[in-house]
Amino acid sequence: MEADLVRVEHELLRVVRSDGEFLTEVASHLIRAGGKRVRPGFAMAAASTLDADAQPAAIEVVRGGCAVELVHIGSLYHDDVMDDATTRRAVRSVNSEWGNLRAILAGDYLLGRASEIASELGTEVAGLLATTITRLCEGQILELESAFDTSRSVERYEKSITGKTASLLSAACRIGAIVAGHPRNVIDSLTEFGLTYGMAFQVVDDILDVIATDEQLGKPAGNDLIEGIYTLPVIHSMRNPEVGSELYEILGGPISIDQRDTARDLVRRGGGIELALESAQSWADQAANSVSDLPDTPGAQALRAAAGHIVDRAAAPLG
Ligand code: IPE
Ligand code: IPE
Ligand code: MG
Ligand code: MG
Repeated sequence: MEADLVRVEHELLRVVRSDGEFLTEVASHLIRAGGKRVRPGFAMAAASTLDADAQPAAIEVVRGGCAVELVHIGSLYHDDVMDDATTRRAVRSVNSEWGNLRAILAGDYLLGRASEIASELGTEVAGLLATTITRLCEGQILELESAFDTSRSVERYEKSITGKTASLLSAACRIGAIVAGHPRNVIDSLTEFGLTYGMAFQVVDDILDVIATDEQLGKPAGNDLIEGIYTLPVIHSMRNPEVGSELYEILGGPISIDQRDTARDLVRRGGGIELALESAQSWADQAANSVSDLPDTPGAQALRAAAGHIVDRAAAPLG
């Protein structure tokens, strides 16, 4: 897997190269900044779930992983414009370095490159990637529609994160499985794994926004409250009789940094973190269950291990 992830790095940098030096620089900015590469990792693990022994990924699988990572990075360019974020992957965000216009265009360029790769992998993969980009936009729009809405429900929150995050993790696994030529039932199990893991993943990210520091995240912490994005821990704590009314008073409109810090404190005291952790654990358990019937190969073990550890990420800053 390590060697395959190195191949992904080379491939990512190769495919975003353009004739224009400036576009190449802007488009490769977040690739060079690193990132966990969860999505290409999942594409490759999903592709290898029926291999008894670890072996190098086929080039089509590497490219499938790259297509998914490029959609992810393109969506981060756009997301940082939406969220007015200044840092990403511990470097300046594209919008803060070059402005919103260039961030939007370069994000579009990355989506275009991803689509080109997907089209070379067959009509099913191309169609799936296109649908995933649609889902992503739908999820982001739902989030915008709920901005500053203190009555946002758990259901509406979950609908938004299904689109904006889980759909892409699901597509990562499904593309790996399709390209590897797995039987339909295996493709579907891996798709379900990615979807449920993706739910846990976003809930954990939302918990971290409340409890972690900028340094721990490499992106601005506490930004969701500033942007009026009331995530699962916030929604839960707003329903707590002890802190709920105070939270309601602060939230619902633009807030200062001091108010944000007070709100983060109230969310932590209101039990919302614990309830959100429970929810993340339940999604992670569903993810593990969806691949429990797969043979005990290195690929399947990697996916089960990922499901087993996802919630630890949210517990780490607390320890
Ligand atoms: C960030 O995704 C956006 C979310 C869906 C929470 P990652 O946490 O995978 O970000 P990178 O790729 O490691 O930077
Ligand atoms: C992540 O949304 C989803 C997409 C990038 C589409 P967030 O806004 O929660 O992610 P971070 O916290 O900026 O990474
Ligand atoms: Mg964001
Ligand atoms: Mg966002």
